[in-house]
Amino acid sequence: MNSIAIDGPAGSGKSTLTRGLAKKLGWNFLDTGAIYRTIAEACRKEGVSPQDESSVTKVARKAKIELGYKGGLQHMYLNGEDVSGQIRTEEIDNIVPLISTYKGVRDVVVKLQRDFASRENLVVEGRDIGSFVLKDSKNKFYLTASPEERAKRRYLERINRGEQADFDAILKDIKERDHMDMTRKIAPLVKAKDAILIDTSNLTLEEAIDLVYSKVKL
Ligand code: DC
Repeated sequence: MNSIAIDGPAGSGKSTLTRGLAKKLGWNFLDTGAIYRTIAEACRKEGVSPQDESSVTKVARKAKIELGYKGGLQHMYLNGEDVSGQIRTEEIDNIVPLISTYKGVRDVVVKLQRDFASRENLVVEGRDIGSFVLKDSKNKFYLTASPEERAKRRYLERINRGEQADFDAILKDIKERDHMDMTRKIAPLVKAKDAILIDTSNLTLEEAIDLVYSKVKL
């Protein structure tokens, strides 16, 4: 099976680019952050403290996590319930960076990701896809954009969903999350040596998709 690994920090445009690229290729896609978010939601529901590594790991192992696609969007199901809306709240934004540093949690998610990628041609987005999960993939891209540009995108996303948003708080959050994602011991966010760097700060979505598409090896 062929695959395309799209890694990069929060707000670099990975999710929309991944969906657009998959559509252009006629492939399926996988947003792996959504799986970590679903485990964070499982912890929230069960009242497990995100600091409690052993309980969080137990929750991750026990949770029944399923994926589906509706109207071109990935939906996440936790023990049969569609939690796609719940996993995009600020509360989950705050829990997920910590629980995704736990080895037991990562083991559960990595297995799910590899199972998925072994079944069909897939565009996979995340933090450690090119560097770890699918390190043999022949298509690796590392997307980036300035923190301010990424904060602006997150802010507009929230406003467009009819939610309240505070630009400065989002920017601070993004910088903190970058730091945590890049400095953690297990599977830190790093550009794989053989990944192509794409800076999306001054590119429209279409331009970014076309650029990546032109470099894909089929
Ligand atoms: O892409 P996102 O914002 O939905 O990711 C949520 C969190 O999950 C983020 O803090 C980092 C983590 N994550 C990860 O550690 N590895 C991945 N492959 C994807 C996400």
